[in-house]
Amino acid sequence: MANNLLSINDLSKKDILDVIEFSNNFIDDEGNFRKENLFPDKIVANVFCEPSTRTKSSFAIAANNLGCSVIDFDIDNSSVQKGESIFETVDALNLMGVDLCVLRHPESVIRELAECLPKMVFINAGEGSISHPTQALLDIKTIIDHKENLDGLNIVIVGDLDHSRVTSSFVEGVSNFDLGSLIFCGHPEMCTKYQNPKIGKYESHLESALENADVVMALRIQYERFEKELNLDLETYKSEYQLSSEKLGSAKGDAIVMHPGPVNYVEITEAVYDSENSVIRQQVANGVAIRMAVLSRFLGS
Ligand code: NCD
Repeated sequence: MANNLLSINDLSKKDILDVIEFSNNFIDDEGNFRKENLFPDKIVANVFCEPSTRTKSSFAIAANNLGCSVIDFDIDNSSVQKGESIFETVDALNLMGVDLCVLRHPESVIRELAECLPKMVFINAGEGSISHPTQALLDIKTIIDHKENLDGLNIVIVGDLDHSRVTSSFVEGVSNFDLGSLIFCGHPEMCTKYQNPKIGKYESHLESALENADVVMALRIQYERFEKELNLDLETYKSEYQLSSEKLGSAKGDAIVMHPGPVNYVEITEAVYDSENSVIRQQVANGVAIRMAVLSRFLGS
């Protein structure tokens, strides 16, 4: 395994399955996370240059559960506000003895940082619209929890795919498996990168896309990443692309519904979010176990 987790492509299929299996050790029979004092001498810095609830908190909880010291780096009250670059910022943390940096940044800076600071471990917690490897790991774990393995599964991803690092890392991750099908669905202007995908296919009609689906992942519209204002009639959008109970009726009865959060209830109805098919809240919990496994693997190597 590489020294850093910059992309899901840094992991082989075996690595992915090993991390997922390892993560299961951190959940006890009651579903609580085990606290293991494995790395009391390690310092983890959470450096989030974009908003986050689940990813940031789960990394902090995971690091605490492993006995690490955690720095919740407060970008808004840091010298970044005085014009300091991300490189000088992370270098300063490195000089102070931080062992591992969990980084979320709107731009692709993590690779260069990792090259400049080889003693520090870097874990990518979201790189613009490009990648979000630990989300892919927790998504694959959640699917395995319910479906045992990914081979033969029909998976549908619907929403604003062009801006979704969740989609890109998920696609890279599942390309290791022998899926039944992978269908991309959503407003054509939000799926321009997925019209002729390397794997899978694009289907504009949601009910057709959902036929026989085992796994359905819904994604919000990432308003903050659109370069020009989005002229969208929300009611028309919802009638075509919102995952409703009625549309979900085309999928298999035991299909699981996923969403990385945050949920806006434009891309999915409250009824589907709350339905028995929904594993969305389990994804959040799996985030802690996966990040405990990832931190252990990369701090231990
Ligand atoms: C996603 C992200 O930040 O990429 N959320 C997450 O990590 N759980 C998806 C999103 O912001 O919509």
